[in-house]
Amino acid sequence: TTSLRIALIPGDGIGKEVLPPATAVLDAVGRRHGLTFGYDEFDWSCERYAHTGAMMPDDGLDRIRQHDAILLGAVGWPGVPDHVSLWGLLIPIRREFSQYVNLRPITVFDGVRSPLSAARPGDTEGGVDLVIVRENSEGEYSEMGGRFGRGTDGEFAVQEAVFTRRGVGRIADFAFDLASRRRNRLVSATKSNGIVHTMPFWDEVVTERAAAFAGVQWRSEHIDALAAKLVLDPSSFDVVLASNLFGDVLSDLAAAVAGSIGIAPSGNLDPTGTHPSMFEPVHGSAPDIAGRGIANPLGAIWSAGLLLEHLGYPEAGAEVLAAIRSALLEVRTGDLGGTAGTDEMTAAVLKRIDA
Ligand code: NAD
Ligand code: IPM
Ligand code: MN
Repeated sequence: TTSLRIALIPGDGIGKEVLPPATAVLDAVGRRHGLTFGYDEFDWSCERYAHTGAMMPDDGLDRIRQHDAILLGAVGWPGVPDHVSLWGLLIPIRREFSQYVNLRPITVFDGVRSPLSAARPGDTEGGVDLVIVRENSEGEYSEMGGRFGRGTDGEFAVQEAVFTRRGVGRIADFAFDLASRRRNRLVSATKSNGIVHTMPFWDEVVTERAAAFAGVQWRSEHIDALAAKLVLDPSSFDVVLASNLFGDVLSDLAAAVAGSIGIAPSGNLDPTGTHPSMFEPVHGSAPDIAGRGIANPLGAIWSAGLLLEHLGYPEAGAEVLAAIRSALLEVRTGDLGGTAGTDEMTAAVLKRIDA
């Protein structure tokens, strides 16, 4: 048997409720594939911040550097400003470990309805099956800038977006390579009509990199029109390549179109394998429903499936997805219009893995 060490960071709110389901699924699927998981849990969170003034200890990143992967619930809680909690934990992990790819697959499962209509989107075209490849290390998420003239009438804030040839190039390469192993279609999100420096540069680098993937049909599309098309015709998309902020917004949008952000998973990947990658649901800590046992655990469970795939166990990962697919035919949480709680949804997945 192979033993894998996983760093667990449940975080805040429903993050703490959806991680136990994810580890239960890892254990169950591991038993079938000769994998055992050793978990080291870290209480890094807004609660910790309230007690100690820091989201994680000074040597926090070093404590998880040697793990095979990181599984995270969600970070952020009322009372701690979001930029403090997120820049104190989530974003440093993504950056320190060069997790420059944020991979966010979206599927409409049987049994799940899109809020847009009574029909499943994509019914006419064979279903929605797309992947958002979000640049995860630069772009609009930058520390460059400042607040000036605080408290005066002339107060203003400046935020620089930083795109590098290396950063755009490597995410474009990843996305085109992925498209070439899927349906050979890619759309790159841009805003070159309104954002005059960074987005034309993004387009230029993407175009250069595309040349190496002649088999992939691709186009640039302005982010506003692309957002509309994701709602109107989601099944027409295969790989969507987007900058950090555009990809963030598109991933909640596409997840909602596919039924609920409670299902959507993500992998923060260092494709070189030098550092641990981090897997987490797309959603946040959901203070509005936390503590009630009703959070949908599938985003976290599917993220565990992505973890398995990333660590070189694609069959185990596929079993997780198949169990989710099958469970959704019978059991659905409140966000999907059902009545099941977190435990019942988790049990439905586990039953199918053990079957
Ligand atoms: P959110 O994703 O937490 O919640 C948005 C809405 O979706 C809420 O109505 C919530 O109840 C619902 N929802 C989310 N996940 C669900 C699930 N699994 N099952 C059922 N319903 C679900 O977004 P928000 O309200 O903007 O953010 C809350 C906090 O989480 C903030 O502090 C934010 O910064 C943080 N956040 C963290 C992450 C992360 O850790 N990666 C991601 C997004 C938001
Ligand atoms: C996500 C989240 C984070 C992001 C926030 C909480 C900083 O929304 O993982 O999608 O914007 O990357
Ligand atoms: Mn987000």
